[in-house]
Amino acid sequence: MDHRLLLDCLSPDAAVSGSALAAHLGVTRAAVWKQVEVLRALGAPIQAAAGRGYRLAWPVEWLDGENLLAALDSDLRRRVGVRVHWQVDSTSSELLRRAGSEAGDLRVCLAETQSAGRGRRGRHWQSPLGGNLYFSLLKRFDHGMGALTGLSLAAGTAVIAALTDCGVSGVGLKWPNDVLARGRKLAGVLIELGGEFLGPCHAVIGVGINLRLPDTVANTIDQPAIDLASLCEHPVSRNRHASRRLSPQVATLDRFAAQGFAAVADDYARADLLRGKPVRVLGASGPIDGIADGVDARGALRVRHGERIALYDSAEISVRAQ
Ligand code: BTN
Repeated sequence: MDHRLLLDCLSPDAAVSGSALAAHLGVTRAAVWKQVEVLRALGAPIQAAAGRGYRLAWPVEWLDGENLLAALDSDLRRRVGVRVHWQVDSTSSELLRRAGSEAGDLRVCLAETQSAGRGRRGRHWQSPLGGNLYFSLLKRFDHGMGALTGLSLAAGTAVIAALTDCGVSGVGLKWPNDVLARGRKLAGVLIELGGEFLGPCHAVIGVGINLRLPDTVANTIDQPAIDLASLCEHPVSRNRHASRRLSPQVATLDRFAAQGFAAVADDYARADLLRGKPVRVLGASGPIDGIADGVDARGALRVRHGERIALYDSAEISVRAQ
């Protein structure tokens, strides 16, 4: 049985009994129950109402690749290839696998759920079905990986631009690329590179945005998280959000390809949530405390330790209580 068929029979408005579902789908009640369990394990928001059947905790809007392409301007539509998966291990892994065999400057991959979603530093990225946005974009660059320092900050500024465009305010970046709202994580960016160190190469920019995070998932994440549903008065359209993400992301990447980090330095400075804050840097040589002082011309974090400024290209940062 197709998972989607069963989900399409459910709504938040009224419970549908197992026997009505079985009759509609032409399967046994036991098969319906089994499917419901599979879908729940994937994170689908199905509630069982005792004696009355099943309903959705909220309306689920499935991603629609055609719709997404149609919402883009014609230039972008010609450049980009979009694929929407029901389930994939990781949208970023999928694009990395395809990078060698598919031509094209820009490729986008989205999924309703990921079985092995990845976060930074080898963390797992929880990917419940149909609620959030799991989005990866492959972009090719000509001048080697060395020119891509600061790309993760650029990608973070593009996420902020897309959120602002959808009417979300009060979001900022915690270096290098945590998108926070009200001090909680709203989105994360993961950059992975392939190709030649000094020649043609590609970056896969993976973005996970919490649109609707079930409590059962939020409670298992190792840092405070927030979703767009609790920041916005109106329901969040996943398709609208995905299509509005794409244009600022590509525009930012094009500017970054031409000018490097300088192209987004001002945007980053406006979004920088760490500047002036007491921070703890967890680097290779153990924790060091200091005061965050913006970033340098390449996007490396500047931290003041007494009279000395240290630069960090990669480190885990936490904000210390004042
Ligand atoms: C982070 O640790 O903050 C980065 C999270 C990045 C998650 C996204 S979801 C889409 C893409 N696919 C993955 O496996 N990871 C990224």
